[in-house]
Amino acid sequence: MHVLIIDDDFDAWRAAALDALARGLTPESIDWRTPQGEPALFSEPAQSVSGANAADAPQIRVSRELASLLKDAAHFRDAHRWSFLYRVLWRWAQGDRAVASPADEDGARLYKMAKAVRRAQHDMIAYVRFRQREASLGAPEYVAWYEPGHDVLAWGAEHFAARMGRSTWLIATPDGAAMFDGERLQLERRRALASEHAVDTPDAAEALWMTYYGSIFNPARLNESALEQHMPVRFWKGLPEGALIPKLVSDARGGARRVAQAQSVGALGGRAVQVQAQDAQPERDAPTSLDTCRRCDLWRNATQAVRGAGPSDARIMLLGEQPGDQEDLKGEPFVGPAGQLLHDAMQRAGMPREQVYLTNAVKHFKWEPRGKRRLHKTPAQQEVEACSYWLEQELHEVGARVIVTLGATALAALFGRRATLSAHIGRVVPYRDKWVVATYHPSYALRQNDEAARERTVAAIVEALEKARELSGQ
Ligand code: URA
Repeated sequence: MHVLIIDDDFDAWRAAALDALARGLTPESIDWRTPQGEPALFSEPAQSVSGANAADAPQIRVSRELASLLKDAAHFRDAHRWSFLYRVLWRWAQGDRAVASPADEDGARLYKMAKAVRRAQHDMIAYVRFRQREASLGAPEYVAWYEPGHDVLAWGAEHFAARMGRSTWLIATPDGAAMFDGERLQLERRRALASEHAVDTPDAAEALWMTYYGSIFNPARLNESALEQHMPVRFWKGLPEGALIPKLVSDARGGARRVAQAQSVGALGGRAVQVQAQDAQPERDAPTSLDTCRRCDLWRNATQAVRGAGPSDARIMLLGEQPGDQEDLKGEPFVGPAGQLLHDAMQRAGMPREQVYLTNAVKHFKWEPRGKRRLHKTPAQQEVEACSYWLEQELHEVGARVIVTLGATALAALFGRRATLSAHIGRVVPYRDKWVVATYHPSYALRQNDEAARERTVAAIVEALEKARELSGQ
C-alpha cells in the first residue's frame, strides 16, 4: 500500500495523481491522506509528498468536461474524495471513457458531486451577508459568518474580492476564513472562528434592513415551501433577516394569514377586516437612491445598480434590457460585446454616442452561474415593473423625443408584456409626448451564427437608429 499525503486541495491532488499514474499505481494500492492540524494551506504553495510538482508532473489528456467535473467535485466534502477522483482518472487513463458518462456508476457520482458543489457556490454568493463593523474597531470593515455546503470558501472569496472594491472584509466559516485587506486575499483553513465572534456586530444598516424585511413580509402571501426553497433553512442563521423569519411564519400560521394584516396593524384595536391578499400587499418604501434599491431581489446577486448614461438634454434615448456581465462590473451601460455592436451600429447610423442617453429597463444584472461564467437571464416582467420606478424618473429627467427600444424587454417596459416585438419591429409608435422606434436587441445579432442573418439584424438596428435620428431632428 502506498500512503500519499497531500494538502487538501485540487492542485496537490492533481500533481500527486499524475505522478501516481506515471508510476502505474492502481487505485486500490493507494491510501490518500491529508495532513491534520493547521496547515497554512493557502498561504504556501501546495506540496505533495510524492515529490511531484506541477512543472515536472507527467501529463494526461482528459476531455474539457471531465477536467471541469474533477475540479468541481474536488470541493465536495467527503473524506474519500481524493481516492474516488483518482479511480476516475485511472479508469480514464486506461481508456475507459464510460467513466465520464452519467450512465456509469462512478460517472454518475462524479456528476452528482460536481452539481452539489456548483449549487454550494451559487448559494454562497446568494446567502453571504456582510455586516458592517463599527469604524472604531478598524479592519475588517465587514464580516460575515457562513456555513458553506461544500468546500467553496476560496471560490466565493474570489468572487467577493472581485466585487467589493477596496473595502476590507472577512468571511468566517466553520473550517476556515477568508480575509481581504483591500488588496490581497488571504485564506486560512481550520482556524474556525466562533460564529458569535463574527456576528456580534450588528450595524445601523442592519436595523433598517430588519425593519424593512419585517414590513414587506405579507402573511397573506406566505408560501412556506416556496420560502424554504428559495431561502433554505440552513442559511437563515447567517442572514440578518433569518432571526425574524420563524416568528413571522408562526404569526402567519397563527391567524395573521387569515386576516392578512401585518403584525403591527393587527396589534391596533378595532375590528379585523377580511381583505383581498393583493390589496394587503404592503407598499414598498420608495428608496432614496438607485444604489440602495430593493424593489425586487435582483440587487442580491448584482455587483451594483447600473444607471443610465448620457446628457440629460439628449433627444434620443436608447433603451436596452438590463446590464450584462461587464456592465455589472463596470457600472456603465453598454460597455460589453452587445454595447460594442450597438456602438458600431450607431456609427453607421451617424449617431454620436455622446449625444444619446443609454439606459436599461432593469438596472441590476440578472444571471445564473454556469461554471465560472455568469450567464444572462431574462428579467421577469415583475422585475421590469419594479424597475419602472427608475425608468419613469429617467423619462422625466431626460427630455428625449425619441426612444429606441432594443429587444422585447425594453418594448414591454413601455407598453406592457402584451406588446410583441414581431408586431412592432421597425415601426414608429407614439408614446406620451414621444416617439418610440422598436428594433432588435444587439445581443440577438451576436447570437446569430449565420453571417448573412446577423448582417440583416444589424442593418435593421441601423435603420431604426436612422429613423430615430430623423424623428429627433438631430
Ligand atoms: N445589454 C443591455 O440590454 N444593456 C446593457 O447595458 C448591456 C447589454
